[in-house]
Amino acid sequence: MCGIIGYIGEQTAADIILSGLQKLEYRGYDSAGVAIASDGKIERRRCEGKLVKLANLLRDQPLCGTTGIGHTRWATHGRPTEFNAHPHIDCTGALSVVHNGIIENYLKLKQDLIAGGHEFRSQTDTEALAHLIEEEMKIDNDVEKALSRALKKVDGAYAIGVIHKDSPDILLAARKSSPLILGIGDGENFIASDVPAILPYTRSIIYLEDEEIAIISRDKAVVKNLDGETIEKKIEHIEWNPVLAEKGGFPHFMLKEIFEQPQVIRNTIGGRTDEESAKIYLEELGLSVEEAQKLSAIYIVACGTAYYAGMVGKYMLEKLARVHVDVDLASEFRYRAPMVDANTLVIVISQSGETADTLAALREAKSLGAKVIGIVNVKGSSIAREVDGALYIHAGPEIGVASTKAYVAMLIALLLLSLQFGRMRGLVSVPEARRLIHLLKELPRNIETVLSEAADMNWIADRFCECSDFLYLGRGINFPTAMEGSLKLKEISYIHAEAYAAGEMKHGPIALIDRRMPVVAIATKSDTYDKMLSNVQEVIAREGMVIALATTGDEQIKEYTQNVIYVPETEEILSPIINVVPLQLLAYKIAINRGSDVDQPRNLAKSVTVE
Ligand code: G6P
Repeated sequence: MCGIIGYIGEQTAADIILSGLQKLEYRGYDSAGVAIASDGKIERRRCEGKLVKLANLLRDQPLCGTTGIGHTRWATHGRPTEFNAHPHIDCTGALSVVHNGIIENYLKLKQDLIAGGHEFRSQTDTEALAHLIEEEMKIDNDVEKALSRALKKVDGAYAIGVIHKDSPDILLAARKSSPLILGIGDGENFIASDVPAILPYTRSIIYLEDEEIAIISRDKAVVKNLDGETIEKKIEHIEWNPVLAEKGGFPHFMLKEIFEQPQVIRNTIGGRTDEESAKIYLEELGLSVEEAQKLSAIYIVACGTAYYAGMVGKYMLEKLARVHVDVDLASEFRYRAPMVDANTLVIVISQSGETADTLAALREAKSLGAKVIGIVNVKGSSIAREVDGALYIHAGPEIGVASTKAYVAMLIALLLLSLQFGRMRGLVSVPEARRLIHLLKELPRNIETVLSEAADMNWIADRFCECSDFLYLGRGINFPTAMEGSLKLKEISYIHAEAYAAGEMKHGPIALIDRRMPVVAIATKSDTYDKMLSNVQEVIAREGMVIALATTGDEQIKEYTQNVIYVPETEEILSPIINVVPLQLLAYKIAINRGSDVDQPRNLAKSVTVE
């Protein structure tokens, strides 16, 4: 987490850095800061709290100069105070550093540096880097070489930007296990943690790889390894439209992204299906029929919302492709000796493509000999580049910290993959595939219907927004939908919410039910509809309040509760893609009623690049 940006050019660096940080604030918003190299000195402005405070500070105390770095922080080491805010400096203030990642051996480095006379002012791991470079500069007074030597002494993850008062015509950057891109402009160059920060200025991007250093001036960017050898890098062209990363008239990114979902589904499906021939085109994965047939098991590995998408994927893959699927949290997978070999396929799922735990799990799976494919949103991200084949979901930039459109796009990708495997393994017939492709293409219209009725949900949000606990129940393929719905609620409204497989309610959570406990029951048409109705009745019998998600036309549910949200009918295997939408809206509306900052909920970050 944390977002970093750097600029070198002819414009006022602080302005560009501030506008870039606004695009990176989703990565953390505990504090923010800017440092500029100009007139033989480094000047900084730093603030605790959100970026708006830094913007006010810069208005009162502007910074001139055309070379600088900036940072928006998600605190790991040290409280979110101004003292701990980046950029950090060395003892004399000659150089300044911004950092995203964790320096794992910083305590040892710090002890040695303090013993050598260095004075620390913050509790951060990053400050050790600044002093380490300062120390190395004592050898030859060469900031580039000092940075290389310093980084060889560092364990952990870093994306960093460095400026030095005596070299205002150079911006240095380096990365290892944290994302960092170079933006190549005309007479100006940039570094950033993510593409949207520099999209208004350039679409020409160089992706830095692990243990590469970039030496950037106005006119060029040279990339070297830590031994100082130059590396030829390819300039990639980004197609994203900068407007996509704006709110477009919606009050929040989250709401905009919820409403984008019909289009996102169309984009994810793209040209990947042919209804007539019932063909699925996923060539980018490089999977052969032979590989699909000899698969012994699939592991899906992910974090957060992507993990819940993976849980839905298990149902889809097991049903259509008849292959055993395990779904793992990435942070657990690599520490539990997974049974992975050359006949196992590992699917990592990640919106950002940068989640540290997912990346580490992917590397672990590869080292065990498995083929690893990725379902990823951000093009050129670390995960996308390291997998054997990447299936891009084409959701466009997702800015709201609580993931919405990326989730439905992940589900579409998983369904396409399941259908593909089902066909390759001879388990899904042509008519069946054709039928499912047809239903898949109807989903955007179904979701448009849900969105057009969004206002009907306001009274439910009003009625329940003061509750302190929620229970979400679902069965089968909609059990993960319940989990994702409850995650959305807790993330943005700070209401405690739990999700249970409805059949498990009687084994524990039923004890919690009383007249103050709303229970969201996913009771859309399915093979287990009757069982779900029984669970609804068990809640009512204990005076619990039920909010039911039901299929349009279901009048029976009204016998049990008046709090009904209707969704259009579809096949059960596709129902999670529709059902999650009203749950996103419910969470959004409740959070708004409670006055939460839905796009930037407390303590969270969009991209979690620490393990
Ligand atoms: C963070 C975000 C979640 C996201 C998770 C995994 O926790 O706040 O919204 O689901 O990371 O992120 P990824 O980018 O790997 O999908």
